[in-house]
Amino acid sequence: MHFLPDNIDEYAVKHSQEEPKLLQELTRETWQKVLAPVMLSGHYQGRVLSMISKLVNPLNILEIGTYTGYSALCLAEGMQQEGTLHTIDINEELHDFQRKYFDKSDFSKQIIQHTGNALDIIPKLEKKFDIVFLDADKGNYPKYIETVLPKMNKGGVLLSDNVLWYGKVAQPTKEKDLDTIALKEYNTIIHEHPQLESVLLPIRDGLTISRKI
Ligand SMILES: C[S@@+](CC[C@H](N)C(=O)[O-])C[C@H]1O[C@@H](n2cnc3c(N)ncnc32)[C@H](O)[C@@H]1O
Repeated sequence: MHFLPDNIDEYAVKHSQEEPKLLQELTRETWQKVLAPVMLSGHYQGRVLSMISKLVNPLNILEIGTYTGYSALCLAEGMQQEGTLHTIDINEELHDFQRKYFDKSDFSKQIIQHTGNALDIIPKLEKKFDIVFLDADKGNYPKYIETVLPKMNKGGVLLSDNVLWYGKVAQPTKEKDLDTIALKEYNTIIHEHPQLESVLLPIRDGLTISRKI
């Protein structure tokens, strides 16, 4: 999902960094073999994630929602040499696909996969993170906030994907649309949270950058 007119969108992509070859390959194979390929971040958002990570230069990164590993590889580009990226997905069938591409990258030994429900796994992680990328089950977004905040370093960056949810968050809510209800609640929580300062970027399906203060 993106909100810009096509010609502006194409211009922005054309004037942004090229997509690395490995990520092009991963995208092709995802579209050939995996259900719901629209879920991967893709070229433009991937370059945004990579740029943010390079600017932050994190020691530890936490990703919630690995899917086929696209965004993990983008975020890893900015990680420190001794850093780690922990990425969690509930779908065990994606594990080998992810590993294949992590092993083809320069970050093979630094990327640690976790399989299971992120809400159960995060409290058990013993690291503190400089970047957290939230891109999993939208209905649980409000629950993730108090789960990830204690795991973030002061000054750490929380990136929340799909916060505009096809624009539905800015429309009257339909009673049974639980994902939209949860995303509206999440957007209010991070906007008003005393430990966060946030800016919602209307790129792709909406990406909020929040800084822990
Ligand atoms: C939108 S996709 C992630 C896309 C990926 N970040 C990218 O940009 O390439 C969402 C993923 O979250 C996973 N997921 C959903 N609920 C989850 C949960 N409770 N815990 C961990 N992963 C979950 C799904 O299996 C799916 O692979």
